[in-house]
Amino acid sequence: MNGFNSHYFFDADPARAELLKALKSEFPKKDIRVQVGDANPLIQELARGFNHNGTRGVAFLDPYGPHLDWRTVEALAATKKFEVIINFPLGMAINRLITRSGDIPDNWRRDLDKCFGTNDWKKLVYDDQPNLFGDIDRHKVDDAGSRLLGLYVDRLKGLFNHVATPSVVRNTRGIAIYYMIWAGPHGLGHKIADHILKQGEKIKAPKPNR
Ligand SMILES: C[S@@+](CC[C@H](N)C(=O)[O-])C[C@H]1O[C@@H](n2cnc3c(N)ncnc32)[C@H](O)[C@@H]1O
Repeated sequence: MNGFNSHYFFDADPARAELLKALKSEFPKKDIRVQVGDANPLIQELARGFNHNGTRGVAFLDPYGPHLDWRTVEALAATKKFEVIINFPLGMAINRLITRSGDIPDNWRRDLDKCFGTNDWKKLVYDDQPNLFGDIDRHKVDDAGSRLLGLYVDRLKGLFNHVATPSVVRNTRGIAIYYMIWAGPHGLGHKIADHILKQGEKIKAPKPNR
């Protein structure tokens, strides 16, 4: 098996990046590049320069929180040569930023807008009802998680020709912490992704929100 020609790793945490740098001595013959910093602009720059004929790439995007900027996903999709595997941290982070009361700190709101590349998430997750006193009572809907996953997958389908049905990853208490999502330009990759993701727990295909 040939493996990849080049490996690019990005991490904002210098200590974690040091661990990645150790891969260079473990695999001295491989082209391994490690950069410390916000992966978003670094990946976008890499994607913009990714125009060699016949070259293909796989991006594994594994954020803890809503830190994967939608523009990064757009930049990878625009190459038409990248497959992406996204660990979408819906239960462990994203859904938790969406408070029951609707009172969301501005910086969380901005992070969510950047992560989804739209503020459409807001109208999906709250049910606003007028009360007796002329005010609006805001409630978070019970199925906010599946609506948010639906929105994300739907938006990925706008960028990539193929998006596999996500596979859910649960913690030891059975709580869904993130979803593994594959998207790419080719049907063959889709077939392989479906085969692999089927090994995990598959969810019902999210309904489009449109
Ligand atoms: C879930 S961990 C990745 C784990 C890794 N994929 C593995 O299997 O060991 C998330 C990583 O993202 C890094 N991180 C968080 N925000 C980042 C950002 N904006 N740019 C680059 N790395 C970031 C954290 O330092 C952390 O190492």
